[in-house]
Amino acid sequence: MTANEYLKFIAEQIHSTVAATVDSEGLPVTCVIDMMYADENGLYFLTAKGKNFYQRLKERGYLALSGMKGTDTMHCTAVSVRGRVRETGADMLPLLFEKNPYMLEIYPAAESRKALTVFQIYEGSGEWFDLSKKPIERDSFTFGGAACRAEGYFITDACIGCGACLSDCPQSCIDLNGRAEIRQANCLHCGNCAAICPAGAVIRR
Ligand SMILES: Cc1cc2nc3c(=O)[nH]c(=O)nc-3n(C[C@H](O)[C@H](O)[C@H](O)COP(=O)(O)O)c2cc1C
Ligand code: SF4
Ligand code: SF4
Repeated sequence: MTANEYLKFIAEQIHSTVAATVDSEGLPVTCVIDMMYADENGLYFLTAKGKNFYQRLKERGYLALSGMKGTDTMHCTAVSVRGRVRETGADMLPLLFEKNPYMLEIYPAAESRKALTVFQIYEGSGEWFDLSKKPIERDSFTFGGAACRAEGYFITDACIGCGACLSDCPQSCIDLNGRAEIRQANCLHCGNCAAICPAGAVIRR
C-alpha cells in the first residue's frame, strides 16, 4: 500500500488511536484521539484549545500515534505513525464534522465548536504490522518528504552461506541461495539471526 493508503486506513478503518505527546517536563503522555480524515497532504484530527493536549502539541509540534484493527492479537493489524504536526485552524472543521457526524453529539451547537481547531500531521514516517498473516507482514512508509530509512536486519557480503541462521528464525523468512537473504516484509526484527551468525554477517540498521 502507499503512504496515503496507510493514512486513509488509520482514519477510515482504525479511527480511534492512542496518541503520544511529551509534557513540559519531557515526560510522555498518551491519550485517545480520533483521526478524522486523510488526504495526500497528511492526517487530520481536531481538539479543543483549552486542553492540555493542545498545549503539548503547540509546544513540541510533534506527535506519535498507534492504532489497531482486529478482534484479538493473532487477527490484528497495527499502524504507527510519528511526525510533525501543525495547527491548520478551523477551516477544515465543516469537512471533519461532515465525515464524522457523531461529533455533533459532542459539540451540538455551532457556538460550542468555537474552541475547536484542526491539526495536520504533515510529515513523518510509519510502520504497518500485520499479525493476521503467516508469516507476519510488515511495511514502513514515509510521507510529506520525510527521509526514508531502511531499518531492521540485513545480511552483508560477509555471509559464508552456512545456513545456521535459518533454524533460529521464528518466521522462516531467510532464504539461502548461496548467500542468505532476509525477506524484509516478513521479518520480526527479533535479532536471532545476528546473534547466531558465526561470520558476523548480519547487521542491524
Ligand atoms: C474514543 C475517544 C476518542 C477521542 N477523540 C478525541 C479527539 O479526537 N480529540 C480530542 O481532543 N479528544 C478526544 N478524546 C478525549 C481525549 O482522549 C481526552 O480529552 C484526552 O485525555 C486529553 O486530555 P488532556 O488534554 O488532559 O491530555 C477522545 C476520547 C475517546 C474516549
Ligand atoms: S531478525 Fe528474527 S525474524 Fe528477522 S530474519 Fe532475523 S531471525 Fe528472522
Ligand atoms: S548464519 Fe551468517 S553466515 Fe551463516 S547463512 Fe546466516 S547470515 Fe550467512
